[in-house]
Amino acid sequence: MAKKLLSGIQPSGTIHIGNYFGAMKQFVDLQDSYDSYVFIADLHAITTIQNREELSNNILNVALDYLGCGLDPKKVCLFKQSDLMEVTELAWYFNCITTMPYLERATAYKDAYQKAKEVNVGLFDYPILMAADILIQDADVVPVGADQKQHVEYARDTAQKFNNIYGETFKLPEPLILKNMAIIPGVDGRKMSKSYKNTIPLFGTDEEIKKAVMKIVTDSKTPEESKDPDTCNIFALHKLFLDVEELKYLRERYVKGGLSYKESKEMLLDEILKLIKPMRERREMYAKDIDSVKEILANGAKKAKIIVAEKMNIIRDRVGVKI
Ligand code: TYM
Repeated sequence: MAKKLLSGIQPSGTIHIGNYFGAMKQFVDLQDSYDSYVFIADLHAITTIQNREELSNNILNVALDYLGCGLDPKKVCLFKQSDLMEVTELAWYFNCITTMPYLERATAYKDAYQKAKEVNVGLFDYPILMAADILIQDADVVPVGADQKQHVEYARDTAQKFNNIYGETFKLPEPLILKNMAIIPGVDGRKMSKSYKNTIPLFGTDEEIKKAVMKIVTDSKTPEESKDPDTCNIFALHKLFLDVEELKYLRERYVKGGLSYKESKEMLLDEILKLIKPMRERREMYAKDIDSVKEILANGAKKAKIIVAEKMNIIRDRVGVKI
């Protein structure tokens, strides 16, 4: 039987090319070889978005982004997290076997705490809800970007902890992180992230994408000067699109001099728009029929529900609440 793949994205803002290359592209590339479950992590998004309109729009947008990227609802079970209330029940059981200092060591929490001392309990508990997402489905692999590696490790730890206390119940999932796509840089060279405001939107308009690309930070070398591709933020992004030969040629042009950063950015813009064109068309097609998108999510939830309800029965029995 095919191994099971599970992953999700938070509907917490506009999807960017870091999300695409780090995670979504893997979902698409692997949909034929894994039993795939891909979801919209809407409960996780409530840790940061507490606005009804914004959240529900974002949920539909992520659904469209998934479909636009090429996820085939006939091959992949697409659903939204909040349709599986079992996940939050399991998160509670996990909460009761997890210590506060253990969660305090999570990098995402530490970062959030440093920025805003008043961190909500949901954000603090984020890794446990994510562990529940993964473990309730008995996922074998979890394709993610490198920033989520620690969270998958938390899921493994939590599975082990539960298994030690209650007996063998959960599989230990493996993260799938592509070496060259682990951390996609943003326009300022830091990790591309909504919170850094350094993203290139995946499904932005041509103008929005152009604006983001033109903002890529460079040094002030003149067009004639020789440039170092290995420290150039534009070149780092070319790596996502060009093959080995094309990159070699571009590298030579950088070193030789005569290539302006502006021209390099224009080339990158062309590469991005070329990638997006067919995805955008597919997305627009689905956007014309939102009811069918909602139906895809509802059918996905129905399918996933059968699996998690069965698993939950076993878990309740192990914990002792099923009398
Ligand atoms: P989220 O919504 O922050 O990001 C979605 C996916 O995009 C990847 N990613 C990146 N990859 C490479 N370079 C980047 N600059 C970059 N930025 C984002 C993330 O690693 C992620 O794979 N906690 C998750 C959502 C989640 C989840 C789960 C994932 C909830 N439950 C269960 C897997 C399994 C998150 O916040 O991803």
